[in-house]
Amino acid sequence: MDDSGKEWRYLGTKEELAKKKCQRLYSTGGKVYDLALFYHEGKFYAMEAWCSHLGGPLFSGEIEDYKGRCHIMCPWHGYMFDLQDGTNEIGLRQEVHEVKTEDDKVYVLYKTELSLSAK
Ligand code: FES
Repeated sequence: MDDSGKEWRYLGTKEELAKKKCQRLYSTGGKVYDLALFYHEGKFYAMEAWCSHLGGPLFSGEIEDYKGRCHIMCPWHGYMFDLQDGTNEIGLRQEVHEVKTEDDKVYVLYKTELSLSAK
C-alpha cells in the first residue's frame, strides 16, 4: 500500500480518547497498518503500532519522559521511541502520523480508515 490517499481520519472525541494513554487503532487495510495512539500531557500522537525492532505492540508500552522528550517504551525489549518523530537511540525508527483536534474531535492523517475495535 502506498502513501497516496492520505486523509484526515476521524477517531472519536477528545474526551473519549483521552481516557487511555495508549491504545490500538485498527486499520481497515489489515493488522500491518494498525497504529498506536498515545495521549500525553494534553496532546495526541500516532505511530505505527508494531515495533521496528521485532514487532512488539507499542500500544501496550509505557510513556516515559526521557532526555526532556516523551517516548514510548516497547513492552518487549524496552527500546524507546520519541513520540514526536519516531526516532530511537540505536537508529530504529517508527513512522509517525499527524494528529489534529478540532471542536473536540480527533483526526489522524492516514491512508486507511481506523477504528478503536477490530471489525
Ligand atoms: S520488539 Fe520492541 S524493543 Fe524489541
